[in-house]
Amino acid sequence: MSSLRQQVIESAGFIRARFGDCSPAIGFLTGTGLSDTLSDLEETDRMDYADIPHFPKATVASHTGSLVRGKVGDKELLVFKGRFHLYEGYGPDMVAFPVRILQELGISVLILSNAAGGINLTFSPGEIMMISDHINLTCKNPLAGPEEPEWGLRFPDMTQVYDPKLRELALTSARELGIPLHQGVYAGLQGPSLETPAETRFLKVIGADAVGFSTVMEAITGVQAGMRILGLSMITNINDPDAPAPTTLEAVVDTANRSSKKMNRLLSRVIQRMD
Ligand code: HPA
Repeated sequence: MSSLRQQVIESAGFIRARFGDCSPAIGFLTGTGLSDTLSDLEETDRMDYADIPHFPKATVASHTGSLVRGKVGDKELLVFKGRFHLYEGYGPDMVAFPVRILQELGISVLILSNAAGGINLTFSPGEIMMISDHINLTCKNPLAGPEEPEWGLRFPDMTQVYDPKLRELALTSARELGIPLHQGVYAGLQGPSLETPAETRFLKVIGADAVGFSTVMEAITGVQAGMRILGLSMITNINDPDAPAPTTLEAVVDTANRSSKKMNRLLSRVIQRMD
């Protein structure tokens, strides 16, 4: 067994010991400025990332860095509030570490939220895009390296990363709630420098609707783990190569915060209706 898998087993064992019998079906990783989006979550347990053995430390100010167990309606969830990014210097293994823990805990549904820049000019800041597919432009892959057969297939199929049934459920829920929900392709870059107008033009040409610095490592890992994945991007700014406007982290976090109620309502309904 690799030392990484040994670490995951120890981390999951620690969480199991602290949270008691811990086998919810749903895991949720929150994105930049979105840690507290799921305000309907009734928290039952919490631990700091710093307490979890082998767990990477969260560095971005907008990520609170705690693992929360809670309920939305009768559905139990484990929520990792705060992510790890390649741009912080973590390797793909560490970025995917929370997903490996969820796998070890037997979780079968993975929800990923993120803040993203809109490439599709029909989008507006504050709107939500459900990820229909992604393009991994990080030049990294969390499955590269020595094979760990216990974790799944060496060459997992990637034709349906984002679960069609969950996507359908999200579309129906959004319609019922009167929340506009776009669908589109998420381009995952390493960052942290934002895109030049020429890069934005390139992303558009290759079929991206939104761009961000997260999600793809976790999604690839989730696929190998056999998880059903739902990805939601909060569009915090629009990148128009013909009218480039500067983007700041503050503006991204501010837009994410302002639109988080909408994200909560959507997520809350989707979670409660999951089978
Ligand atoms: N680019 C990359 N990541 C982002 C952006 C962006 O424009 N907005 C929010 N996250």
